[in-house]
Amino acid sequence: MQLGSLTLKSNLFLSPLAGYTNLPFRLTVRELGGLDLATTDLVNARSLLEGSRVAKKLVATCPEDSPLAVQLFGAVPEEMRDAALLLEEMGIHSIDINMGCPVDKVTRTGSGSTMMRRIDETAELVATIVQAVKVPVTAKMRLGWDSHNLTAPELARALVDVGISGVFVHGRTRKQGFSGRVNLDGIRAVVQAIPEIPVIGNGDVTTLDAAKRMFDETGCAGVSMGRGAFYNPWLFCHVAHFLKTGERLPEPGFEERIAVMYRHLDYMIAFHGEELGCRFFRKVVPWYAKRLGPSNYLKRQIFSLKSRLAFDAMIASYREWRLQFLDEEGELLPRYRPAPLYSSFMDGKAGEKQDAIPVPKGPVDLW
Ligand SMILES: Cc1cc2nc3c(=O)[nH]c(=O)nc-3n(C[C@H](O)[C@H](O)[C@H](O)COP(=O)(O)O)c2cc1C
Repeated sequence: MQLGSLTLKSNLFLSPLAGYTNLPFRLTVRELGGLDLATTDLVNARSLLEGSRVAKKLVATCPEDSPLAVQLFGAVPEEMRDAALLLEEMGIHSIDINMGCPVDKVTRTGSGSTMMRRIDETAELVATIVQAVKVPVTAKMRLGWDSHNLTAPELARALVDVGISGVFVHGRTRKQGFSGRVNLDGIRAVVQAIPEIPVIGNGDVTTLDAAKRMFDETGCAGVSMGRGAFYNPWLFCHVAHFLKTGERLPEPGFEERIAVMYRHLDYMIAFHGEELGCRFFRKVVPWYAKRLGPSNYLKRQIFSLKSRLAFDAMIASYREWRLQFLDEEGELLPRYRPAPLYSSFMDGKAGEKQDAIPVPKGPVDLW
């Protein structure tokens, strides 16, 4: 698939999730296959220009983490342009502009989903960036501010006219936050408004069928997945295989999940150092644990994780504890097997928690 001048090996994308889509996670998922362009968490353009430690850590990368898009937010065109230039110099492959973040802290500054209400100013800002860099510039937006202002098609059109290379659309409004179902018709309206460039559909794609439905019903050129990748880091390779062959690969077994969890921990330690890496990994283990069957024991232990050696001991004692739930072949007894993953727009469980990743609750104005 082509995104401006960038040729991609996959039309499946990793959505930015602030606090989650860091380098260790991206490397872990990339190794499993099916993913090509990943995006960082959102990065404040001004902080990046000021050389803030946090911003530098957010854009940290390595040759295996390629191709990579950095997502910028900001409302000052010159700052956004200079930050994009800096990233281009660093070798970043694509610049994504956040136009969907509903959080008050971001929208107050005129960036994030506020941009969906100011089409002319937003197009001008994008034009400033597009004219300055050679790498592709993309936008990530929602459907609009609220259901009365579904501005995504109009905004996307204005951005194509100033030279944007692709548009990622999360099929909800800013007002919706993460509630309700993803609106596939809304995404299709964007696809129809800008036939010249790829539109990438996003939202609630956690299963193979949901990915297929996103393609079929919206006509999108690619699909971007966020939370689904945390519930199941194999999602990209399984979706890619399913779309190509129609075959559903089996869920990875216990040993494979443990091995990938170790890879993830090792990347965390390499990136943050052992103590901090282990501390951050405490938040990661519960996602893996969800697919391991009964795991209260592991989840309780993990809160005190301080070293890799301690992790070895925790996994060894978890294996012993877990034996009580296995049959003679070492498989989980049927009643302990995790429930299949679902997608809200596939099976109608809209709003139901798939609770590994906390999403903000309540009216979006209070976030
Ligand atoms: C914890 C969390 C953090 C997020 N951070 C960002 C972000 O930094 N930038 C962005 O454009 N979207 C962000 N999003 C939205 C996701 O990229 C995505 O659009 C949304 O979660 C729907 O896709 P999914 O159902 O595949 O997760 C975030 C979502 C969550 C749950």
